[in-house]
Amino acid sequence: MTDKIKEEIEKLRKEINYHNYRYYVLDDPVITDHEYDMMMKRLVELERRYPQYITSTSPTQRVGTTPQSELRKVTHEVPMMSLDDCFSLEELEEFHSRLVRNIGKEPTYVAEHKIDGLAVDLIYRDGKLVQASTRGDGIVGEDVTANVRTIKSVPLELMGNYPPSVEVRGEVYMPISSFLKMNRRREEEGLPLFANPRNAAAGSLRQLDPRVTASRPLDCFVYMLVNAESLGIPTHMDALNYMKELGFKTIWNAKLCKDFEDVKNYCKEWESKKSELDYPVDGVVIKVNEFEFYPALGATSKSPRWAVAYKFPPELAKTRVLDIEVNVGRTGVLTPVAILEPV
Ligand code: IVH
Repeated sequence: MTDKIKEEIEKLRKEINYHNYRYYVLDDPVITDHEYDMMMKRLVELERRYPQYITSTSPTQRVGTTPQSELRKVTHEVPMMSLDDCFSLEELEEFHSRLVRNIGKEPTYVAEHKIDGLAVDLIYRDGKLVQASTRGDGIVGEDVTANVRTIKSVPLELMGNYPPSVEVRGEVYMPISSFLKMNRRREEEGLPLFANPRNAAAGSLRQLDPRVTASRPLDCFVYMLVNAESLGIPTHMDALNYMKELGFKTIWNAKLCKDFEDVKNYCKEWESKKSELDYPVDGVVIKVNEFEFYPALGATSKSPRWAVAYKFPPELAKTRVLDIEVNVGRTGVLTPVAILEPV
């Protein structure tokens, strides 16, 4: 009897995980919400009756219920570096020329959106998510495993044939429409508003109570396979495809650029189409595709020389000053505040 139950539980988990993947990663559900809810309800019921079969990667176990007293510090085995910025296509061209001089040939590149969120590192052992951490100062970050587990597009268990150890990096972000909706609700409830989607994502991820994180509309794109070379993967594009096979939501519109002209066109294209996206993008990240060039290119103390960030110029808009209010501080200091017409 109990073997039958165990079998049913395992089958349900497999199906729920698959439909989760269709919904949250591929954005292409194949069943109705009601059908999904019914499966989940049955699994919750079976696990309530047979708690001996509960596992940490069960889809019912995403949200933990015990708040932490602090976020534990974690040392990154491979430092989480940042990127050098370019602010014009001329500067980007200099990056390319320097690189070609350095390696003596033209590499291919991968161009991707630069997501304006919070960098995270995810470690999987034997296919199970065992640690999620923030970047911190690049060497030491914070353990946010309980919080990242609540993000539905982050697999708790990998798909397919996974190696014993997988480490990926990506960006946790808040979709713009969800951010606006959340702020509207907070305003109605008299709660302080978040300044922008990035602050909202950072504030939501660094909560001590995972139930608070679970209530915030977070999502995550992955853009780097840390141990790609040890897995025998030769290029960044292959790494992105591999991470997709493992069930991750990879940065969806990464483009293989066969030459620098392609890179420039990608930057121009997305600079003008940025407002069509429902996630915050502040530029384009350009990465050398072939890992074989990385050792020769090396890194500075802060950033690798095989990648660069092309930053979009901040958007400018004309508006009108409607009024000037004067705030009186606690100590009597007067601060004039301009009230602008929203744009
Ligand atoms: S690759 C070695 N790809 O931008 C650095 N970063 O200053 C590898 N970011 O800390 C980072 N989108 O948080 C990479 N498609 C993308 C990204 C991306 C956003 C962030 C990341 C990093 C910062 C660079």
